[in-house]
Amino acid sequence: MKSSLKTNEEFKPFFIDFLGVIEEQLLEIGFSYRQPKKLANAIKGLSDHFIGNEQRITPWNSKEFKAAYLAYYTPLNLWRLLHAYKTIAEDIPWQNLNKVLDFGMGSGAASFALDYMLRKTGFSAQLSGLDQSEEALGCFKEISKSQLEQLKVTQLADDFCSLTNGEFDFAIASYSLNELEVIPEELFKSKYLLIVEPSSSEESRLLMAMKESLIDRDFQILAPCSHQNPCPMLTTKKLWCHARTPALPQSQLNKIEEYLPFKNRTLTYSYLFASKQSEVATSETHYRVVSDPLKEKGKTRWNICSDKGIETLSLLHRVKLDLDLNRGDLLELDRNSIEQKKTELRIKDLNSVSIVKKDS
Ligand SMILES: C[S@@+](CC[C@H](N)C(=O)[O-])C[C@H]1O[C@@H](n2cnc3c(N)ncnc32)[C@H](O)[C@@H]1O
Repeated sequence: MKSSLKTNEEFKPFFIDFLGVIEEQLLEIGFSYRQPKKLANAIKGLSDHFIGNEQRITPWNSKEFKAAYLAYYTPLNLWRLLHAYKTIAEDIPWQNLNKVLDFGMGSGAASFALDYMLRKTGFSAQLSGLDQSEEALGCFKEISKSQLEQLKVTQLADDFCSLTNGEFDFAIASYSLNELEVIPEELFKSKYLLIVEPSSSEESRLLMAMKESLIDRDFQILAPCSHQNPCPMLTTKKLWCHARTPALPQSQLNKIEEYLPFKNRTLTYSYLFASKQSEVATSETHYRVVSDPLKEKGKTRWNICSDKGIETLSLLHRVKLDLDLNRGDLLELDRNSIEQKKTELRIKDLNSVSIVKKDS
């Protein structure tokens, strides 16, 4: 599945429409995007809960927390997941996605984003949703009345024991594993697995470490890694692997953020996409850009990751090349025509770098 549109333009109508559906849910519990200050207070309360609480379980049991999760965190995760699916779209076996699991589905951001992607392919699938909170599943059910076209909900349950069919083609865990003490083994039975987690140093590093346990369970890592070696960032304290979405469209969320001490123009997240099915086309010449462009006097640098570890790619400004590289881009490098200066790989001409996959 290829698209020439930038992610933010392509997904904007769906995203704005989704906020309209959320508004209906908010009105039911005494909130509205038309009262952004009241929502901002609720969001601040939920953010404080996440920061101050070691347990970190999403509290669905109060109207304030529920409104905050629906109005703000659900659309943010929808935006993250749209970006994640688009990044890995070429490796998702859309035509063979018969049984899908959304683990810790909450209000369903990951499923709604997947449904939207399925609309583009014309394929459909059966969805099982799992969340320990009945309130969360209730929110999902309400939103799904108008937001699911390609996914047919076959079962919603509060734990794996209650699921009647545990063999999944694709399992997604979006922002849920960080709430668990132990990850259920059942999750690893899926043929394809997408795990999306917060982009903090601590949570990203836990996910990076999980790469090896997935490989031990016969998975191959399809993204973001371009290789099957242990994550090289784990050997440094300064770096952790995360992705960045394009800017969110202007929406009701901007009004809310006027009353918040934090703003989310672009969003970050960490992820691993793994499969037991595919033959991974690991290439010794493939490199993932794992930093934003780092502008310095006279040059721009990027951290790149490959089976050789983390290296620095650089472009001296006086070389005057038009090269637009961003976090998440997958590159192919011809090392023979790149100049190595200590630990830095200096680009001398455009023939030495080609972009295999542009991130959004
Ligand atoms: C931060 S929310 C993420 C919701 C949704 N996946 C998203 O991306 O917005 C985490 C969800 O995981 C659920 N959860 C936490 N521990 C769980 C467990 N042991 N089994 C099932 N669900 C769990 C919580 O109830 C909550 O709805």
